[in-house]
Amino acid sequence: MNFPTNLKNQSLKKWVEEVAVLCKPDNVEWCNGSEEEYNHMWEMMVANGTAIKLDEQKRPNSYYVRSDPKDVARVEDRTFICSHIKDDAGPTNNWVNPAEMKRTLNGLFDGCMRGRTMYVIPFSMGPVGSHIAHIGVEITDSPYVVANMKIMTRMGAAVLDVLGADDHFVPCLHSVGMPLVDGKKDVPWPCNADNKYIVHFPEERAIMSYGSGYGGNALLGKKCLALRIASVMGKEGGWLAEHMLILGVEDPKGRKTYVAAAFPSSCGKTNFAMLVPPKEMEGWKITTIGDDIAWLKPGQDGRLYAINPEAGFFGVAPGTSMQSNPNSLVAIAKNSVFTNTGYTADGDVWWEGIGYDPPAKVTDWQGNDWVPGSGKLASHANARYTASASQCPSIDPDWENPNGVPISAFIFGGRRASVIPLIYESFSWDRGVYLAATMGSEMTAAAAGTIGQVRRDPFAMLPFCGYNMSDYIDHWLSFGRTILYPPRIYGVNWFHKDENGKFLWPGFGENMRVLKWIVERVHGEAMGLESPLGWIPRYEDLDWRGLDFSKPQYQQITAIHRDKWLNELLLQEKELFELHTRLPRELNAMHEVLLGTFARSPEVWNVA
Ligand code: GTP
Ligand code: SPV
Ligand code: MN
Repeated sequence: MNFPTNLKNQSLKKWVEEVAVLCKPDNVEWCNGSEEEYNHMWEMMVANGTAIKLDEQKRPNSYYVRSDPKDVARVEDRTFICSHIKDDAGPTNNWVNPAEMKRTLNGLFDGCMRGRTMYVIPFSMGPVGSHIAHIGVEITDSPYVVANMKIMTRMGAAVLDVLGADDHFVPCLHSVGMPLVDGKKDVPWPCNADNKYIVHFPEERAIMSYGSGYGGNALLGKKCLALRIASVMGKEGGWLAEHMLILGVEDPKGRKTYVAAAFPSSCGKTNFAMLVPPKEMEGWKITTIGDDIAWLKPGQDGRLYAINPEAGFFGVAPGTSMQSNPNSLVAIAKNSVFTNTGYTADGDVWWEGIGYDPPAKVTDWQGNDWVPGSGKLASHANARYTASASQCPSIDPDWENPNGVPISAFIFGGRRASVIPLIYESFSWDRGVYLAATMGSEMTAAAAGTIGQVRRDPFAMLPFCGYNMSDYIDHWLSFGRTILYPPRIYGVNWFHKDENGKFLWPGFGENMRVLKWIVERVHGEAMGLESPLGWIPRYEDLDWRGLDFSKPQYQQITAIHRDKWLNELLLQEKELFELHTRLPRELNAMHEVLLGTFARSPEVWNVA
């Protein structure tokens, strides 16, 4: 095997050799991260029918890809945390004994790359060489993965330069699980339709993924390394790895305040991270640090600092328009990848909610002629674009600052048609941890289960926590006691609906009104009323310039109904019971406090 001249790490060398022996690829190629290499991947994918190059005028240097219909999203029921002890994975993760899982996987990986090229991708989560970055090496047989990793991470030769002779790296082994044997011809989107495994060995800090080429299943730096494995590292090392966007708020005085927000998959992180304030709110501006993952560490000054370990966005395409998210539309104007959107006859992409009518002829994400009004979607609900963060007009000047940005507030929110008010500030860190731990959300295409049903998604981390969820909650509680300036914690809900299913809150850019109140609260400049749940802004505490939203409308989405909340507390209790073996006792205590509060609260609590 040919090794790169700057490879000094012996254990990496040994691991790659072992994997090649096991997987039996036709060739092994080390990726250097160059433009030539990137272009070469696409040339191969175009030739193979995997990708279509989009029109150079309309969408320069961009590609369109359709996945196999059986490989369109993360597979939570096939995702495993294989710790030595089952309880260390906890009740919310799938677990198999690591030795047994390795036997299974070694069987599957044996010869799985026959007829294919095995690519070795050294990558850094976080700026290359930064003290907070972590290095991974992904081995994959998918050129699509190579190309996407180039956008989503810092990858290539420079990473090997900083990886010392015996530094640690996270080995990430990936295969689409479709060897080309017995004369089998390749297909546009190779995968293993019926046998997928997304596996983490938290003690070993290793990842093995088999059978899928899509998103978080295959781009292993993202959910697998930067969340599941990193959450374990953070628990041990005194930091946090979170499913959070990071944004900066500039106010008319020029003051900058940074916040991090956790919403479950497909619940608005990208939109919020790139928010454009209503024009009437002059002087307010949002900058973007990240849209999906935050790593947070205590700083010397007693504040909490956050970095975005990623280098790109893997964002939900449907619903992205000039109205909902102009910054992301600019970011994806060129040098981007579109997977499972619709494809137009003139060589561009189209999706539901793009903000303009489809052109005359569109083929859908499955390659069929699409008939508008047929009830079928042109774009899969989990169709995604891949684009470099550096192309985003709202990107923050400090987005690659290795020291991160100081976080003043945490925001947690799910998709709830009722019950959870538009905005509330928790009374304390502990109460904030309770609100995040008991958060629920109506399920979307990105989650397994029945669409629309509420599932508990603590901290928006249910599918991404690499260890026992109760230990994770405990880690959060401890955190608040060790930092001098713990961020304030807020709950939000943009998704109230009326009986006809119509959203009651305009959302998107208008969320700035809520964010402004949060920033003012953080600086001790805004009022709030004490509700049964936390501090809630009065009607006049929000800036309504340019929006016609009446006080009764506002009351409708901030009201706290005793009966609904007693029912909600029952559901929360069910979750706490499922977590009970290791659950910190504060959680039960806070649940009791809420029960007591609601026993004494009015039937409906309304803001003034
Ligand atoms: P992942 O990338 O899956 O982690 O998700 P994300 O949280 O980044 O999701 P994204 O921002 O792409 O969310 C997309 C969905 O949220 C679309 O259906 C949007 O229409 C919807 N959405 C985002 N913001 C708002 C809002 O303020 N109000 C409403 N009603 N919908 C919103
Ligand atoms: C999510 O599902 O939360 C995502 C998309 O961000 S994926 O990378 O596919 O997990
Ligand atoms: Mn996500």
